[in-house]
Amino acid sequence: MSATLIKNIGILAGIGDPSAPLRGAALAQLEQLSNAWLLVEDDTIAGYGPMDTCPGAPTAVDAAGCMLLPAWCDSHTHLVFAAGREHEFRDKLAGVSYAEIAARGGGIQASASAVQAATEEMLFTGAWTRLEEISKTGTGAVEIKSGYGLTVEAELKMLRVIKKLRERSSLLIKSTFLGAHSIPAIYRHDTEGYIREIIEEMLPVIAAERLADYIDVFCEEGFFNPDQTARICRAGIDYGLKPKIHANQLNVSGGVQTGVAVGAVSVDHLESMDDAAIASLAGASTIGCMLPGAAFFLRMPYPPAREMIAANCALALGSDFNPGSCPTGNIPLLLSLACVNMRMMPEEAINAVTINGAFAMGVNKEAGSIAVGKNANLILTRPMPAISSIPYYFGSNPADRVMLRGQWQ
Ligand code: NIG
Ligand code: FE
Repeated sequence: MSATLIKNIGILAGIGDPSAPLRGAALAQLEQLSNAWLLVEDDTIAGYGPMDTCPGAPTAVDAAGCMLLPAWCDSHTHLVFAAGREHEFRDKLAGVSYAEIAARGGGIQASASAVQAATEEMLFTGAWTRLEEISKTGTGAVEIKSGYGLTVEAELKMLRVIKKLRERSSLLIKSTFLGAHSIPAIYRHDTEGYIREIIEEMLPVIAAERLADYIDVFCEEGFFNPDQTARICRAGIDYGLKPKIHANQLNVSGGVQTGVAVGAVSVDHLESMDDAAIASLAGASTIGCMLPGAAFFLRMPYPPAREMIAANCALALGSDFNPGSCPTGNIPLLLSLACVNMRMMPEEAINAVTINGAFAMGVNKEAGSIAVGKNANLILTRPMPAISSIPYYFGSNPADRVMLRGQWQ
């Protein structure tokens, strides 16, 4: 057994093992201990406490007053893709909307053409580089979606890449089948035909090869409507996949209510919320996962975080790392966006991307907080005086060292 003691931690934050996601006023309760130690045995947190109870250990790291936090749990990414979409960036800056770019055959369709042409090895190498990049800014668990395949073969290729990433990476990885991300060109006038392909040809193989944990649908005008979304989700449930839905991004789409109705683990985006959507989420166990990076990059209104916190919704934050609406998985930057543009308090934003993020991707038993028995996925910060320093120094990386499964990266 290997043991590492981390001592003289200025602030040990994110302590606890809640049995449900934090909501309402509890989202601001980031449990902390000043002047603390934490012991890692093998890949697991074995203990922690105040420095006056510090045990001895063969290997000790002196945190010298810096902070220690649980690594981020990013519950929404599309980080397997073949190429960036820099060629659309100028059009976007010139005012062409996300929906218009999609209608011209750009957007998700452009990413799908690139994925269809790529080998599994190429996709793996690109995604592996992105995993290394996000782990440097403190991400320890990540959900990854398919959805840039849009054919049976290419969707399965993406999911097999995610499976390989999961087997080889130190990050905790969950896999989501997002065949219903867009309607491929050959089905332009036959959405139902594509839905049949998803349900009858993709899902059986995905279930047989255990390629996904979750099923996702882009519930949006011009993509999949609430009825189609519910049918696809229910088909996924029949194959053992839990729903996580893209809801209320560009329009008040009915996606939130649909997600709640099918018992979705999360409904994600939420830039376009009305009172009915907020009310339906407030009474549900479904988590609302907000993606401020996408709102920033698409110049959209941000999700109404304060209203949803006041309404008692369970909320997470995720990056949405993807080539179209958020080409970064940098969680510290996302925390700054959430605080500055959505007026979340630093403690709320950190809880939203640690313990609530863990719930939104089903890893709350292994990650997302400081608790004995959880994975030692930890961020040791550079010298910073307070929790609020993390979103305050926007654009800089608070992580000095990151530990994943007990190993410094
Ligand atoms: O979450 N909204 C749908 N899907 C992605 C964007 C996909 C893309 O533009 O490539 C999102 O923002
Ligand atoms: Fe997304």
